[in-house]
Amino acid sequence: MTDPAIDADALHFDAETLRERALTTLTTARARTTLLTSCVEEPDLTAQHSPLMSPLVWDLAHIGNQEEMWLLRAVAGREAMRPEIDGLYDAFEHPRSERPSLPLLPPAEARHYASEVRGRVLDILESTAFHGTRLTEAGFAFGMIAQHEQQHDETMLITHQLRKGPQALTAPDPDPVPLFTGPPEVLVPGGPFTMGTSTEPWALDNERPAHRREVPAFYMDTTPVTNAAFQAFIADGGYDTERWWTPEGWAHIRQHSIHAPLYWHRDGKQWLRRRFGVTEVVPPDEPVLHVCWYEADAYARWAGRRLPTEAEWEKAARHDPATGRSTRYPWGDADPAPEHANLGQRHLRPAPAGSFPKGESPLGIRQLIGDVWEWTASDFLPYPGFQAFPYKEYSEVFFGPEYKVLRGGAFAVDPVACRGTFRNWDYPIRRQIFSGFRTARFAGDV
Ligand code: AVJ
Ligand code: FE
Repeated sequence: MTDPAIDADALHFDAETLRERALTTLTTARARTTLLTSCVEEPDLTAQHSPLMSPLVWDLAHIGNQEEMWLLRAVAGREAMRPEIDGLYDAFEHPRSERPSLPLLPPAEARHYASEVRGRVLDILESTAFHGTRLTEAGFAFGMIAQHEQQHDETMLITHQLRKGPQALTAPDPDPVPLFTGPPEVLVPGGPFTMGTSTEPWALDNERPAHRREVPAFYMDTTPVTNAAFQAFIADGGYDTERWWTPEGWAHIRQHSIHAPLYWHRDGKQWLRRRFGVTEVVPPDEPVLHVCWYEADAYARWAGRRLPTEAEWEKAARHDPATGRSTRYPWGDADPAPEHANLGQRHLRPAPAGSFPKGESPLGIRQLIGDVWEWTASDFLPYPGFQAFPYKEYSEVFFGPEYKVLRGGAFAVDPVACRGTFRNWDYPIRRQIFSGFRTARFAGDV
């Protein structure tokens, strides 16, 4: 079946470019993994810094184990290197809270295992045809594994932020920008657009297939909600006013005495926050970070607005009103470069609201990609025609109303794991993730 509006989005990627990209993205991921697992001493690798997270040494061996399973065994047909460890590193066999008590590979062994796997993978990368099977088509399995490692590099950065103790990671701050003076919101016209993709070679199963969606006109914030704006909500008694909250959200913040974003505390009149081992004054013009879905939703209601739906978010990020096409990113089809977005852990914080004019959408919406994950109003559900691939445990087992979708990626996300179509999800109570939000309203609203 052909739909001309969807076919117009067809992209072409050549096999040798993809092979090159597989090598560079796998190499970039390993450099980051190595840094995140060598910047602290051994006890910090094996300790559990939060019951929400695995010990860092679990992530390290799990990265190697997934790479072995998908690239050496599934793609190249090799025998298991260490079949006895598969169970330890199966995310579904042991919840995170139990992982520290497992007989995990110690740091030196975990490192050695991951690097043995990588050496063999680089051999097969040369000789594997990038077509013939669904797993090897356009090098999908290699791209999936590079993304998987980078997703765990983000997970490990979350663990580093939770860890108590002195600073272990540093990075330059994003460039300062003049205070953003553009319009606070823009009108996204109503009508259909193409959501999801059938042509992006390394898009994961939940981003597929491309399909048309009708999205009525709405207004979208030009930038993510800032710390200054969120402080106004706090100062106005937002956390003490039941009517801004859903019943579940209100019960949750009461039960856990939540009065501010995670990592914030008050010092007299000022808000301070702990960020990677350093305490600093909360920067007013930076997008708010470490809020749960309930906090984002309550803020939006207080502001007389609402969270955008997932379809609204993607239309704002990909729909080009001039051509009617959906692009890969807000700025077009080019891969992300440093001037487009704050990605890849090159900074360890979001950039001020209004940064990255070169990354804006055709309608002038900024920072949709990078800086902070953006909570949407939507539950995590399959698109029409969804097929689990290559395993049900990546997406399918999570579909349903318990999870809310986040879009756009954060400063902690590598470009290989970030696209206009990329979907993340988490429980609405979670705030250790690099989550912020922006708000929307129906175009018909006052
Ligand atoms: C897409 C971030 C929700 O970390 O649970 C890593 C990514 N899946 N290993 C997660 C993932 C398997 C996943 N999220
Ligand atoms: Fe994983």
